[in-house]
Amino acid sequence: PNISHIYNLHDFEYVAKHTMEKTAWAYYSSGADDEIALRNNHLAYQRVFFNPKVLIDVRNIDLSVSMLGAKTSVPFYITATALGKLGHPDGEKVLTRAAAHQDVVQMIPTLASCSFDEIMDEADGKQTQWFQLYVNSDRQITKQIVQHAEKRGVKGFFITVDAPQLGRREKDMRSKHIEDLSHVQGDGEGVDRDQGVARAISSFIDAGLQWSDLEWFRSITDQPIVLKGVQSVADALKAIDYGVDGIVLSNHGGRQLDLVKAPIELLAELNPVLRQRGLLGKLEVFIDGGVRRGSDIIKAIALGASGVGIGRPFLYAMSTYGEDGVSKAIQILKDEMVMNMRLLGAPSMAHLNESFVDTSALGRP
Ligand code: FNR
Repeated sequence: PNISHIYNLHDFEYVAKHTMEKTAWAYYSSGADDEIALRNNHLAYQRVFFNPKVLIDVRNIDLSVSMLGAKTSVPFYITATALGKLGHPDGEKVLTRAAAHQDVVQMIPTLASCSFDEIMDEADGKQTQWFQLYVNSDRQITKQIVQHAEKRGVKGFFITVDAPQLGRREKDMRSKHIEDLSHVQGDGEGVDRDQGVARAISSFIDAGLQWSDLEWFRSITDQPIVLKGVQSVADALKAIDYGVDGIVLSNHGGRQLDLVKAPIELLAELNPVLRQRGLLGKLEVFIDGGVRRGSDIIKAIALGASGVGIGRPFLYAMSTYGEDGVSKAIQILKDEMVMNMRLLGAPSMAHLNESFVDTSALGRP
């Protein structure tokens, strides 16, 4: 269908499902095991309700925020997803271009289809880009990657901590016609192509990574360090103790351990704990997984998130309509946010807090 018939992010998914190459669809859309976490990530947002305020001046709505010290037009970002070329011949560069034009932050994946330098060459020199790091068993390789990325202007490192082994995504495993993966870093020996795209490319990831390694990370970069894939209040508190700059409450879009809580449930649990202990503002708390509407983003910000990551919707938009698609997806989210902020009675992100949401339907932790 013509892009003018796209009204929301679900529409991109529908078109992608019916037009994308099967292997690519399987890799992008799959979750782990029975995909309970994948489904619940989104469904949990539907158990958070709004408490609107009336008679507030909402002529001007300001969506801008600061994330890890960088100003950006919106409190959401394009999160890291591997293998962009499965969906579009220009791969991650499509996301880079749309991010630049729309003033949105992009997180670059370690397992990008385009080389890191190709992606940075595509950037406009002003946009904010972060780097998602899979830590190699050979730490020298990781050190080189980090220091090169920092030199090229990356403004934050997101160490993925929820994937010592890649999850079992059966849809992906069933579609065994794996594309040429030679352009991906980390490909090489030990690749078992029967395991699906995901497992085939991830054999280099160090399953021995520990909290005690964080000091070493601190020593190799001056940029902010964020742990991507924290899934408990206890680990969030531990992250503060270890002096990291932020965490992403994330279950990898339901692609790793199944039957974990939805990130928005975890955020609702974490926020009061941080407040009680006087730890609000000690670390930036990001969240991703299942965000499909501007209202989802507003809920997360109201519950204390610094920023909200979105993965699959941008992949589907890129795969179906290229840069126009990604730009449109971003614009839809902006429009939905402005409309909902106005109806909610909150003129800016700074106005949002827990008083705007009712989380009682999430149940008690
Ligand atoms: C991912 N994700 C991911 N995360 C990461 O740290 N490194 C990676 O290489 C990838 N690759 C990847 C590929 C694909 C196809 C998907 C869908 C996801 C997880 C990603 O960063 C994020 O946590 C989720 O995508 C968020 O969920 P939604 O927005 O897709 O529901």
